Amino acid sequence: MRYLITGGAGFMGSNFTRYILRKYSDAVVLVYDKLTYAGRLENLHDVKDDPRFKFIKADICDEEQLVKAVKEFQPDAIINFAGETHVDRSINEPAPFLKTNVLGVFNILETARKLETPLVVHVSTDEIYGNLWGKEPADEEAPFRPSSPYSASKASGDLLCQSYWRTYRLPVIIVRPSNNYGPYQFPEKFIPKTIIRALHGKPIPIYGRGDQVRDWLYVEDFAEAMDTVINKGSKGEAYNVPGFNERRNLEVVETILKLMGKPKSLIKHVEDRPGHDRRYAMRGDKILALGWRPRTPWVEGLERTIKWYIENEWWWRPLLSDDYFQLDTPWRKG
Ligand SMILES: NC(=O)c1ccc[n+]([C@@H]2O[C@H](COP(=O)([O-])OP(=O)(O)OC[C@H]3O[C@@H](n4cnc5c(N)ncnc54)[C@H](O)[C@@H]3O)[C@@H](O)[C@H]2O)c1
Repeated sequence: MRYLITGGAGFMGSNFTRYILRKYSDAVVLVYDKLTYAGRLENLHDVKDDPRFKFIKADICDEEQLVKAVKEFQPDAIINFAGETHVDRSINEPAPFLKTNVLGVFNILETARKLETPLVVHVSTDEIYGNLWGKEPADEEAPFRPSSPYSASKASGDLLCQSYWRTYRLPVIIVRPSNNYGPYQFPEKFIPKTIIRALHGKPIPIYGRGDQVRDWLYVEDFAEAMDTVINKGSKGEAYNVPGFNERRNLEVVETILKLMGKPKSLIKHVEDRPGHDRRYAMRGDKILALGWRPRTPWVEGLERTIKWYIENEWWWRPLLSDDYFQLDTPWRKG
């Protein structure tokens, strides 16, 4: 099978690329990635010399480049991981989020429609359902109530996919994962930030009281969920991919510190993020019915992640900016 993976040089896309090349000897992959600050060829260092792997540096918002790539590569599926992904950045500067997460998705759908690509799989997010504190976990039919510019842009991309199925019968499947964690995640994100700061004995910021609940899923388990949906999912459907592993933020940091043998005194409570959703939660009946379930137990996944960051300083050290260890809230930098 021929996979055109947009955003394949990012955290989840690179883990998916690695998974597919390992699992299928006849897989051919074209990673199509703009290489924003979050996308790096270092994320693909171990597959870049594989003859089944190709890479092109290009923007999903650039119609000409995308059409050319799809015409030349003739994918069986376009798998869209490309996105602007950091909620804090979307509060500070929403424009790139609207561009990539809405117009970029539109461009992929239009290209697939015109060139009759057999399948598009779009990666959405659990954040589109908004704050579910004190409520039932969302099933795939639950209303969208995004709180941040990031989640609003993701909800828009998701709705465009739905409309292309209903209007044009474009063969598209939507996947809505919960919070992923694991190797190759950019150091600005919660779990790598905690690990890297703990390694340096630096204070670890927690927004507000740290009682926000997220549902954590190991990134390789998500790659397996994507593979399941590609092979067994129904076109026109959306699939939630929960981790079945809800944890309070404070608990996450405390567990990491314990596993690393670091003191809890490193935790520093800072001003909460505006519009911060207290809880995300999804039902997973549809993906479970396809035969997938997460394999990696929480503490084991954390241990593997910590070990990876300890052993791969070459990967994250160049990414630390001068102010990396400051406690300023990003939306105040503006
Ligand atoms: N990380 C999570 O926990 C999580 C949870 C739910 C959903 N998601 C979604 O999964 C997808 C992947 O997330 P991630 O954590 O791997 O993100 P990431 O920020 O690590 O990677 C995003 C990748 O997209 C590329 N990209 C950005 N704009 C592009 C453009 N215009 N054209 C081409 N490439 C572009 C970047 O260069 C980068 O390689 C995103 O759509 C995100 O919204 C992530």
